[in-house]
Amino acid sequence: MNTQVKAESGLLTVQASSTGFVFVAAVFAAVGGLLFGYDTGVISGALLFIKSQFHLSVFHQELVVSVVLIGATVGALSGGKLADAYGRRLMLLLTAVIFVAGAIVCAAAGSVGVLIAGRIVVGLGIGLSSTTVPVYISEVSPAGARGWQVSLFQLAVTVGILSAYLVDYGFGKSGSWRWMLGLAVVPGAMLGLGMLAMPETPRWLAEHGQGNTAQKVLARIRGTPNIQAEYAEIQDTISQAKERGHFSELLAPVVRPALTVGIGLAIFQQITGINTVIYYAPTIIQSAGIPSATGAILATAGIGLVNVLMTLVAMWLIDRVGRRPLLLTGISGMAVSLGVLGFVFRAHAPSSQQGWLAVFILMAYVASFAISLGPIFWLLIAEIYPLKIRGIAEGTAAGTNWAANLVVSLTFLSLVQALGPSWTFWLYGVLAIGSLLFSYFVVPETKGRTLEDIEKALRSQRGFSLQRQ
Ligand code: BGC
Repeated sequence: MNTQVKAESGLLTVQASSTGFVFVAAVFAAVGGLLFGYDTGVISGALLFIKSQFHLSVFHQELVVSVVLIGATVGALSGGKLADAYGRRLMLLLTAVIFVAGAIVCAAAGSVGVLIAGRIVVGLGIGLSSTTVPVYISEVSPAGARGWQVSLFQLAVTVGILSAYLVDYGFGKSGSWRWMLGLAVVPGAMLGLGMLAMPETPRWLAEHGQGNTAQKVLARIRGTPNIQAEYAEIQDTISQAKERGHFSELLAPVVRPALTVGIGLAIFQQITGINTVIYYAPTIIQSAGIPSATGAILATAGIGLVNVLMTLVAMWLIDRVGRRPLLLTGISGMAVSLGVLGFVFRAHAPSSQQGWLAVFILMAYVASFAISLGPIFWLLIAEIYPLKIRGIAEGTAAGTNWAANLVVSLTFLSLVQALGPSWTFWLYGVLAIGSLLFSYFVVPETKGRTLEDIEKALRSQRGFSLQRQ
């Protein structure tokens, strides 16, 4: 099967399907997302036991949780340049080694210092995977299937988070935190072994003077020898590119619109509060009126499940209705849910009815995120940048996302203390409205376009002009 891009009545429509091979490559790469979700999610449960084993102060607890985000910021910022220089595949292999090493160090840690060091290593792996996985998938996928295939990454993140909740729950009774952290070795090894069998992307190969291999890989992943048109388009784009792969080129006028979209969405994805729910859901639910810890944890798992299911819905829609309609609808849903959640916390005495109402609203909020800012941020930053600087540019957006994640995670509890929960959620709601306006005015539609077509539009000074096609 192959992909045909046809001009029809002035619009590019794409008839696309992909071979099984490209799907397998995408799935293996997406395991990097599973580790991202698992390793960021698992600590909330594990911390309860680590805290008592090592007699951790609040500061040390915060450190154990947040050094992962610091590691991820560094990993994302540096990983992009390395992926441009040494290839996407090699970076994914390195990422797998880092994940396995980090998981072993954490599971075997005999002191809090070693545990923190292990968490930094895990963080580096998470950052690298968030930079390389979306780019790898977007460069092997056919245009018309790229949306859902790159979104496999976000799906894997959500499955990782849900598995972490379940593993924490499963090992909760015995308090085996070493198992909770050590189990990440399994997907880490899967990522490494899988990527050993997978090829480098044809676009990176072509860009690095390995034209013959690039064509062979393209034919293999498209399942047809008829790849001349796609390969010619890739070459044409490379010959027009002037970038040399430096960070400073991100600021060039021609790249700036894409940089604005990537950095803007990176920040909005976080400052609209998603991780206050992902990391602190049990606390939020308890304070809304469900005092039992098991009730709160089960409700949290329900929220995790909604996140997975709605990501699947997004994947089904993303190449059909396009990125913008999903983004705008989902962010509107987030803004409304945050507004309503603020009112739930206005009630004078928390009751279990009110607690369940909060759970329902949190589910609506996460569902709205899962069809919009969740997958679409990672997708767009893998498709809007020119090939020559795609790695560094994606890494810069991903690194900004991790830094914003760190700021929100570290300030959430203090904000609740200072403003109260209602105003805190209303604040996130106002930021969601800002995010909606940003998306409406700045974010382009990329549905069905080849990466080369998107790059041409960026260079044409029409300011992306892929808007409302
Ligand atoms: C975000 C993470 C978040 C996750 C939740 C991802 O797209 O980048 O910060 O925890 O979605 O599903």
